[in-house]
Amino acid sequence: MSNLLEALEQVKKQLALTPEELQRISKRFRQAMADGLSGKPSSLKMLPSYLGQPSGTETGRFLALDFGGTNVRVLLTELAGDGSISVLQRASKPLKNPAGAYDYTSKEADGLQLFDFIASIIKEVVPPEGTYPLGHTFSYPINQTGLNSGTLIYWTKEIETRNVAGQEITQLLQEALIRNGLPQVQPQVILNDTVGTLLTAAYKDQTVDIGSICGTGHNTAYLEETAPQTNKPMIINMESGNFDQLPFTAYDDLLDSHSDIPGNGRLEKMVSGRYIGEVLRLILWDLLGKGLLTNSPDKEKLNTPYCLGGEDTAVFAGDTTAEHSTITHWLESKLGIHGAQPEDVQVIHSCAQLVAVRSARLVAATYLGIFEHIDPELKKPHTIAIDGSVYEKMPGFPEAMDTAFAQVLGLKAKQVSTVLSKDGSGLGAAIATAIAVKN
Ligand code: BGC
Repeated sequence: MSNLLEALEQVKKQLALTPEELQRISKRFRQAMADGLSGKPSSLKMLPSYLGQPSGTETGRFLALDFGGTNVRVLLTELAGDGSISVLQRASKPLKNPAGAYDYTSKEADGLQLFDFIASIIKEVVPPEGTYPLGHTFSYPINQTGLNSGTLIYWTKEIETRNVAGQEITQLLQEALIRNGLPQVQPQVILNDTVGTLLTAAYKDQTVDIGSICGTGHNTAYLEETAPQTNKPMIINMESGNFDQLPFTAYDDLLDSHSDIPGNGRLEKMVSGRYIGEVLRLILWDLLGKGLLTNSPDKEKLNTPYCLGGEDTAVFAGDTTAEHSTITHWLESKLGIHGAQPEDVQVIHSCAQLVAVRSARLVAATYLGIFEHIDPELKKPHTIAIDGSVYEKMPGFPEAMDTAFAQVLGLKAKQVSTVLSKDGSGLGAAIATAIAVKN
């Protein structure tokens, strides 16, 4: 075996997770849930949403604002009361202009500018007449004190916009709406994207009791039967991307040490679209010293942090052809790396697959931890609604989760399933608004 293939075997050993390891992670996760719920120190924040499951009969016309890691989307929606939602109008803009005209995620921008930008997108959608209740999906950890109030604990996904952390988010939005001449827009509720995803899928299917995002960021919410705040059923935003009792590799530690907030978001940094390309790059950079790309004069280009993203990882993992010509082409056109040999592209493909499968299995282990908490015997069927580019576009991702469930649960795995809830995070804001208005 060549040195390079031997090095690949070492990487495999580090990234592979046996069924026993998955079980160990799920048990630690379950314990962290219990600790977080009872107020003990835990990497899981277990934040209240003040929302329960929808009945599916909610009706009305609502604005939904979806503020995620990459785009701001605004939808004018109509809930029909029969599980269906129609989108009447929509507008969307990236938080960071691809041509460099603006970047509301950087240190140069502040909260006022960011929320004025959001208000300008709402303006594109909202009619001048009438009043419009709005639900706000805000995909970051907030200390929620009620349906419509919460302060940002800290930014995640490497966002650095000034003067937002520690602030009351609904107030920032409300002030921006007034500044921008939009008094007819009335924020009613703020929710996490995982909560929105759960609500959207549960609006149609009552077996959905877990909502999750596997996209730029990662997190999961679930329906807690007896929430500590109310002793009633409530959806809890776990901020599970912050879970930290995991088998870290040297690559994970290196990535973490160079990130905005070292020590935070350790699971997210192993599994989400914002980071997996960087995990892959660190592995490939290490393999350069062990024979990868020796005939490529431009291989040093791999020394640029974050030059590989989640999309590149998906392309590399998905090129299963014998020649891996897509990988060769991608290396040349996107990264300017020429001269890759058949063994190089084979190794790059394998590493991308290992990173992708590890991501799916780690996330699956956290879902297993939730089942242990809500229904250890799996007496009922449970559907996990998932939104996000990694679940949707990473080749083999849902299948790798199913394999993990089957390995740990055996025959009982038939009680659990995952389903794509496309745009569920944003649409959920409309459902949450319907619930809030009714209350
Ligand atoms: C945030 C979560 C969010 C997740 C998915 C994480 O970085 O902390 O609040 O749900 O990304 O968008």
